[in-house]
Formats: sequence, C-alpha cells, structure tokens
Amino acid sequence: MGIETSCDETSVAILHDDTLISNITATQDVHASYGGVVPELASRAHTQNIIPVIHTALQYANLHKKDVNVVAFTLGPGLVGSLMVGISFAKSFAQALNLPIVAIDHLYAHVFASFIQFPNEKHEVPSFPFLCLTASGGHTQLLRVKDFTDIEIIGQTIDDAAGEAFDKAAKILGLPYPGGPLIDELAKKGNPFYFSFPKPKVADFQFSFSGLKTSLLYLVRDNLKDDPGFINKYKEHLAASYQRTIIEILTEKTFKAAETFGFKNIVLAGGVSANSELRKTFIDKGKELGYKIYIPPLSLTTDNGAMIAFLGKILYERGITSSLDVKQYATGEKYKKYHSKG
Ligand code: KG4
Ligand code: ZN
Repeated sequence: MGIETSCDETSVAILHDDTLISNITATQDVHASYGGVVPELASRAHTQNIIPVIHTALQYANLHKKDVNVVAFTLGPGLVGSLMVGISFAKSFAQALNLPIVAIDHLYAHVFASFIQFPNEKHEVPSFPFLCLTASGGHTQLLRVKDFTDIEIIGQTIDDAAGEAFDKAAKILGLPYPGGPLIDELAKKGNPFYFSFPKPKVADFQFSFSGLKTSLLYLVRDNLKDDPGFINKYKEHLAASYQRTIIEILTEKTFKAAETFGFKNIVLAGGVSANSELRKTFIDKGKELGYKIYIPPLSLTTDNGAMIAFLGKILYERGITSSLDVKQYATGEKYKKYHSKG
C-alpha cells in the first residue's frame, strides 16, 4: 500500500508486484479560489479524506486490510501538516496490523512512475541509467538515475518550479488553481508565437521561471491600461505563448544534458509531464535525435499513491524498511537516514 499526502491530494494505492490494482485520489477543491494550496486547509482535508480513501482503495482492489503486507508513505518533502496526516495514519495502520513500513521521498517516487504497470496493459519500462526531468508544482530537477537508490541532481531551479510558473500565470489570467491543466487547454486554441517572452540566462542545467512569470505580469498589466478586455481577447494566445516558452526551456536543457552526459534514455516525470504539448515535444524530439523517451500515463503524472507504493515495494524487496520514529521533512532530501536494512 502507498499513501501520499504531501500536498493537496490524498492518494492511496495498492500494488501487486509491479501492477497497480487500485489508485484512489481525493483532490481538494478548497484551494481553487486561493491561487495556490493553503496549508491549514490542506491538512484538514487530508484528515477528512484519509479513511474514506483507504477504504475505497481496498474495496476497489477487492482486498481486506489484512491482505496488505507493507505500508509505504511519503515522508517529505512537502507541507508539514499534510505529511503528518499520512505519516500518522500509515504508522498506526502498520502498527495495528504488525506490518513493516517504508518511508519514501516524494521526488524519488515521481522519477519511477513510468515503471508502474496496469493490469492487461504491459508497457516497456525505462532501463538504467537514465536522465530524468522532474517538473512539478514544487520542484524542477534534472537527475542522473543509475538505480532506484542511486540518484544525483544535475541541475534544478534557482527560484520557481515549472508547475508554479503555470499556476502563477493562471492566477494572472484570472484562472483558478491548479492552473497547469487550464493553460494546457487554452493553449490548444492559441498561437504559440503571438507573444514572445524572454528566456532566463542561468547556468547550463539550472532553471529559472520567476522572471518569465513577471514578464507575463507586466505584459498583462501594461495592456490592461489601454484595453480592459485584453485578457479575455488574448487569453488563448497568452497561454500558448507562455506555455511554449516553458516547454522550450525544459526541452532545450534536458536534451542538452542528455547529449552532454551521454544518456540514451530520457524520463519525464512530475505533474507538468501531464502537459499535452510537453509530452508531444519530448516524443518528437526523442525520435528526431535518437533518444528513448518514457513518460508516465496521465493518471500517474500528478501526485499519486501508486508511485509511493512502487518505490516502497522496491526498497522493501531490498530489505530496506523504516522505524516507527521517522519524522516528516518539509524540504531537501533527508529520508535516507530513516532507512534500515535487514
Ligand atoms: O507533481 P504534482 O502533482 O505536485 C507536486 O509535487 O508539486 O504537480 C502539480 C503541478 C501543478 O503546478 C500543476 O499546475 C501542474 O503540475 N500540472 C500541469 C498540468 N497538469 C498538472 N502543468 C501543465 N500542464 C498540465 N496539463
Ligand atoms: Zn509531486
């Protein structure tokens, strides 16, 4: 069983070997009008959702809680209050049933979402080593992945994450949170070359998105002075042009890293990998330049319990578990010290 509560999705999945037999997510609509996740509201909603989501996940898998043999859960990074709900539940559940627990790093879990199989629908999974671009609401990283437990950061954002850039743009355009899927839809009807936005000048494999967001803000603000209907008239072109810029930044950096470090396999992960144009761009460019591209199915791009269950299963099979005194962390990568072997 995998339990994910790091941000605003309460998600529980059950995996049998590599195959996903249930993955139930309660999305929190309470944040829509705030332009971002409100931590107190998120933890409250997790508390309300966790039991029904566990129950539904077991029911969907046609299993009883006694059939579960390992409990994996997100330890961090994430919102402290949100993490605590999932962690406390996982510990109590495991203790009551005398089960081992495995604490999982949310970012590592995203990386391996492409490995998860669905019943009656087997796909080719990435082979090691690979380059992974994880682009989510909280992080944007290029990773060298040699194994499930051997991951190294090649570069990351120095300010906003790519998903944050989508969400902030949506807010500027008066759209609710999360903005990524809405920008994606609007962009389909717009001209991606109608507006041009400057690209950040940062070192090779670093990213920066806060300047891009500010240039959209200024463009909109300046035009609204002469034309109060500017956003409404141009929202499709604004979305398409802004999205094109993000995709160009992500694509250029990733393929440059693949060439520089000699990777043949590229994995795309995180919520932003749900973006239809980004998926298409990576697949087309992979074909053109001779790279193998792996992207998780849409249901496993944004936060989900399945990716937690999957990495939990891998670690458990290697004899790695966690003790009941593990503690959540908001940032960074601290979970390795919470694992013991044997
Ligand atoms: O991985 P994720 O669910 O949560 C974090 O770990 O942060 O990513 C959520 C992010 C949000 O910023 C959301 O706007 C973005 O993923 N996102 C998208 C799309 N679907 C979700 N961004 C662009 N296009 C999409 N279709
Ligand atoms: Zn995530």
